Amino acid sequence: MGKNLIFETIPREMHTGVVALDKNGCALYANPFFLKSFPVDGGIEGRPVAEFVKSERLLQSVGAFLEKKGGKSEDIEISEGNRFFSVRIVPIKDKADFSLMLFLQDITEEKRVETIKRDFVANVSHELRTPLASIKGYSETLLDGAMDDRETLREFLRVIDRHATRMSRLIDDLLILSRLESHQMTIVSSPIDLGELVTSTVKGFEKQSRDKGITLSAAVPDDLPKALGDRDRLEQVMVNLLDNAIKYTPSGGSVIVSAAREDGIVRVDVVDTGIGIPAADISRVFERFYRVDKARSRELGGTGLGLAIVKHIIQGHNGKLSVESAPGKGSVFSFSIEACK
Ligand SMILES: Nc1ncnc2c1ncn2[C@@H]1O[C@H](COP(=O)(O)OP(=O)(O)OP(=O)(O)O)[C@@H](O)[C@H]1O
Ligand SMILES: [Mg+2]
Repeated sequence: MGKNLIFETIPREMHTGVVALDKNGCALYANPFFLKSFPVDGGIEGRPVAEFVKSERLLQSVGAFLEKKGGKSEDIEISEGNRFFSVRIVPIKDKADFSLMLFLQDITEEKRVETIKRDFVANVSHELRTPLASIKGYSETLLDGAMDDRETLREFLRVIDRHATRMSRLIDDLLILSRLESHQMTIVSSPIDLGELVTSTVKGFEKQSRDKGITLSAAVPDDLPKALGDRDRLEQVMVNLLDNAIKYTPSGGSVIVSAAREDGIVRVDVVDTGIGIPAADISRVFERFYRVDKARSRELGGTGLGLAIVKHIIQGHNGKLSVESAPGKGSVFSFSIEACK
């Protein structure tokens, strides 16, 4: 392969934007990746840099280099629209001539992951701190003398126990999520009877719904085909959806779980007549830690991970998950997975 061909191929194929500016800051050259990230109508050659780059930070640096006509290479980070770039500015002196080369790497994805990680750590710490503060407060009060009264002792221990349970649930949910995300917990699909899974999970919630004054029922047709799925994981899905349906439905309401066959899939609907979800929140309820009413969910012992787990498991089945809801009327959470032929 000839050198020319090599030097043609590199800038064309690399995933870094490259642009060369002359001593007046007008474009001499831009590679395809740059043009894709900074589209310019009618060709870039000869156009001043300010016409295709908006970042003040970058324009200032470029301006300083052009004024000095020299200096050391510089690395900066800029945002352009909703994307982030790491930019290396390289001054080039060739006898009396001066030009600048810019190399731009798109770091939007790295930034996004960084933000998610930061938010995640902040969320987990916050969620652990709240119950921990209570445990500490109550145990200190007991040690300071309150334990001498048996009634107080019993009551405070109950609070401590409740908060400890919350913390251990949070850790369990986090572990499930992290195993699902790192693919350590794999979805092993085999033919399963979803109808039986629906009825048995509903049975498991009978006491809870009766105690709360909610009618709970299951509707499964006799001829429901088997579905391809991982029974244990789908049981977790059912438990999380039913737990929510009952938790977010006031006394006197009802929860119905139904299963049905549709075109090559088996679909399960969990329908409640509960408080519903406002339209502005609905697209976010599957995010980790997202709760419409943080204080209320926390009071009910929730951490906001239930639906994130549901989403992961259904995704792992290549299934579909959806929600429809109207505040004050109720919600329908549905999922579907492949039916057995
Ligand atoms: N059936 C429902 N009716 C009304 N709101 C719901 C329903 N299901 C979920 N939500 C809303 O979505 C939020 C997220 O649900 P998710 O199951 O992830 O968390 P949680 O129930 O608060 O806590 P956890 O499941 O960890 O105990 C809830 O806090 C609630 O605001
Ligand atoms: Mg939940």
